[in-house]
Amino acid sequence: MINIAIDGPSGAGKSTVAKLVAKKLGITYLDTGAMYRACALYFMRRGIGADDERAIKKMLPDVEISFTGEGEEKKVLLCGEDVSRAIREHAVSKAASDISKLPCVRDFLVASQRKIAACSDVVLDGRDITSNVLPHAEFKFYLTASVQVRAVRRYKELQARGENIEFDKIKADIEDRDRNDMQRAYAPLVRTPDSVYIDSGDMTAEQVAQFITDKVKAKNKN
Ligand code: DC
Repeated sequence: MINIAIDGPSGAGKSTVAKLVAKKLGITYLDTGAMYRACALYFMRRGIGADDERAIKKMLPDVEISFTGEGEEKKVLLCGEDVSRAIREHAVSKAASDISKLPCVRDFLVASQRKIAACSDVVLDGRDITSNVLPHAEFKFYLTASVQVRAVRRYKELQARGENIEFDKIKADIEDRDRNDMQRAYAPLVRTPDSVYIDSGDMTAEQVAQFITDKVKAKNKN
């Protein structure tokens, strides 16, 4: 099985790159962030915050997350409902970062991520893929960019979607999520020493994807 693990902070371009890599290699893309987002949306809709771990633990078995379609047509389903758009809303980003601190949530989602990786050629992106989900993956990358670069990208993305949020607020939220994701006690975002470090600041997503694809192809040739 080919398992390509990509970690990095919010807005580094992981999902765009991972999708391109999957397309170039003809393998599956698994967006693990979308799983945390869908889970957060499930509890947000029920008015349950990340501080209510007891309630979350009890209800987790009811949270059904799946994916359908391929490429641009890929959809995230939450209990059968297409939530692909809803999970990208600004408020869900913070809720996902908060809920992802809970060990019960992580264990629940990591189990299904490992199951998928065990039986398919897959590129996964997230925060703990190289360190925790698949520490023995053959291909490991850490993709990042400065806070400023990531905030500009996110600002443009939200503007294009009609969400008018001030740039300074977006930047502060990114810094806040970095802190959340890197400083949580359970499976925080870390750069593992065996991951190839990529700063995407001066690179297009296509260039990053080609770099990763070339590494995979070069190793598979030997
Ligand atoms: O990649 P993203 O922004 O869609 O992820 C949303 C949140 O989910 C992010 O703030 C941290 C969390 N997450 C995580 O803890 N572990 C992962 N493997 C993926 C995402």
